Amino acid sequence: MTSELWPFFSLRITTARLELRYPNDEVLLALARALPEGIHDPATMPFSEPWTRAESPALEHNALKFWWSRRGSLSPESWSLPFAVFDGDDVVGVQDLMGKEFAITRAVLTGSWLLQRAHGRGIGKEMRAAVLHLAFDGLGAIEAYTNAFEDNPASLGVTRAIGYEPNGSSLHARDGATARSLEFVLTRERWTERRRDDIEIRGAGFVPPGAQGADRLTRMVVRIGAVNVHVPLVPVTGGFSNPTDAVLTVPVPVDVEPGRVEVQVVTAAGVETHQYAIDVTD
Ligand SMILES: CC(C)(COP(=O)(O)OP(=O)(O)OC[C@H]1O[C@@H](n2cnc3c(N)ncnc32)[C@H](O)[C@@H]1OP(=O)(O)O)[C@@H](O)C(=O)NCCC(=O)NCCS
Repeated sequence: MTSELWPFFSLRITTARLELRYPNDEVLLALARALPEGIHDPATMPFSEPWTRAESPALEHNALKFWWSRRGSLSPESWSLPFAVFDGDDVVGVQDLMGKEFAITRAVLTGSWLLQRAHGRGIGKEMRAAVLHLAFDGLGAIEAYTNAFEDNPASLGVTRAIGYEPNGSSLHARDGATARSLEFVLTRERWTERRRDDIEIRGAGFVPPGAQGADRLTRMVVRIGAVNVHVPLVPVTGGFSNPTDAVLTVPVPVDVEPGRVEVQVVTAAGVETHQYAIDVTD
């Protein structure tokens, strides 16, 4: 799918174990079709909104409408990225990353589910680690929040394994009865202690959300060999014509010798891309 008008469609987070993809309609339909398989024991309810109780095909329709509404209402002030979780070619669940006023708070919230056949194989941990990598490494988050009902050991197990700290609790009405939700926070410091170097973010633009202002963009650098070149900002109404989300243009300084040289972009969020070899001519 072409994605220059909706760059999120190119966004992927890859680990050795699985891939998270921002879902296009084909993927959303595959996820919806799989829902009647079940995502939890019907005797339990992991969600405060018991959406999984609907019968097919209302279950699938409701899910599609929910995902489409999230896509349609996405804005810098309030966004949700419901990544489809791929185990090989098999789509097995959703790992959501949400931000409210992220440019100000730099805080994110996660939520997730897996088809029952995918439970208990470590996928929940891996997909949470992947999306947190996007949040902290890709977007520069400073805190990530999550919560789970106290009778959801699998979700609490993921949270414990990743290294969150307790952050209080709250009471909710669930299926007509009171249920306690446990809240957790993962700080940037805690995440950094356990930072993984085997998770790759692909398709993220050079310009992060909330970086409309020049202050952060001025930090963007193209490293050509050993020379760091600041990206010249070309302001136009409502943003910049350089850098854009997909393309940035820099002059090659005279101190770069002609010949083969490695090039790397250090984005406004401080993320270093892979190195690419280019041939510099006179
Ligand atoms: C929550 C969910 C995403 C977790 O994914 P998962 O792949 O099943 O979990 P993992 O296999 O990665 O296990 C994570 C940890 O929890 C532990 N765990 C998993 N299931 C468990 C269970 N039923 N009881 C106790 N511990 C459990 C694992 O041992 C592991 O801990 P460890 O690393 O210390 O060994 C998945 O179970 C799910 O979709 N559940 C239904 C929907 C849901 O609850 N969503 C979350 C709402 S808050």
